[in-house]
Amino acid sequence: MKAIKFTSYGAPEVLQLKEVDKPIPKDNEILIRIFATAANSGDVRLRKADPWAVRLFFGLTKPRINILGGFLSGEIEAAGKNVTKFKAGDKVFGATGMGFGAYAEYKCLPEDGILAIKPNNISHAQAATILFGGTAALYFLRKANIKSGQKVLIYGASGAVGTAAVQLANYYGAEVTGVCSASNAALVKSLGADKVIDYTKGDFTKNGEKYDVIFVTVDKLSFSKSIKSLKKQGTLILGATGLSQTLKAVLTSLISKQKVLLGLISQKANDIIFLKELIEKGDYKPVVDRSYPLKEMAAAHRYVEQGHKRGNVAITLT
Ligand SMILES: NC(=O)c1ccc[n+]([C@@H]2O[C@H](COP(=O)([O-])OP(=O)(O)OC[C@H]3O[C@@H](n4cnc5c(N)ncnc54)[C@H](OP(=O)(O)O)[C@@H]3O)[C@@H](O)[C@H]2O)c1
Repeated sequence: MKAIKFTSYGAPEVLQLKEVDKPIPKDNEILIRIFATAANSGDVRLRKADPWAVRLFFGLTKPRINILGGFLSGEIEAAGKNVTKFKAGDKVFGATGMGFGAYAEYKCLPEDGILAIKPNNISHAQAATILFGGTAALYFLRKANIKSGQKVLIYGASGAVGTAAVQLANYYGAEVTGVCSASNAALVKSLGADKVIDYTKGDFTKNGEKYDVIFVTVDKLSFSKSIKSLKKQGTLILGATGLSQTLKAVLTSLISKQKVLLGLISQKANDIIFLKELIEKGDYKPVVDRSYPLKEMAAAHRYVEQGHKRGNVAITLT
């Protein structure tokens, strides 16, 4: 089968189209023919080993995992003899977890993996891309104990995590303010934001507003500014933070009633099922900026790396 391999950290060109062995499902696994995957900012960080700490988990001098891709949508081609939840022909979408490997034509996953039947009302490209931001936003907003009527600000509202966070905060009944550039204001409003602030037109932390939850999805706002507009008992979510902010976060949580959430999210099959139900009801909509064929993965990464995509970038394999 065809797959995009990378054997060293570096520029997008390390992503190479190769012929590799097609996987064979174990007794408890399904073999998925992948119709679409996603190129996202998490994959870019792994490819570049940025931050450096990536190497502590994925290999000091070179990556131990050679096929990236954390999300997929496709059709089950075969199922192991002990599989009962799914059958050949089922259309599924989900996450590959720490094994990655979705930048390929096929992937085996355990039947109790982070998977669900794909919603019928969206395409494979939409299904493969909706979960990266969706699982991250859901994880953090639930940890923040989001409630109806709260004032929530999403910084980086037009990206993958941002477009998911705006929609989910709106679903939970919050009053949502999105921060992005003017060119994306209409998109963010259409996803349910009550207000949109253009970050190029001044500093929102000076407008006197205080929020119950501030969700900083991109590493573009200093810690001191992030916390400035938070209510005394509010929650700051740092979705993309570095080590220096981690130390400040621990200190803030110790000396004040403000809570700071950060770190790696965890994904569960129940989260995918929850998001699937929202998608089917029309309460959570996919936002796909562009699609690239598998062989143009390097170009997709170059685009994602610019940091201004609207929602998500899909990779299609059909
Ligand atoms: N903690 C975890 O486990 C976890 C899970 C998932 C993701 N993440 C991290 O979350 C981060 C966000 O991912 P993403 O895919 O959502 O990113 P993205 O799609 O690249 O985000 C783009 C967003 O950032 C905005 N932006 C760009 N430059 C800005 C600036 N200078 N000031 C303010 N906003 C700016 C863009 O607005 P305009 O285009 O309008 O300028 C757009 O809204 C990544 O670092 C990813 O690694 C972490």
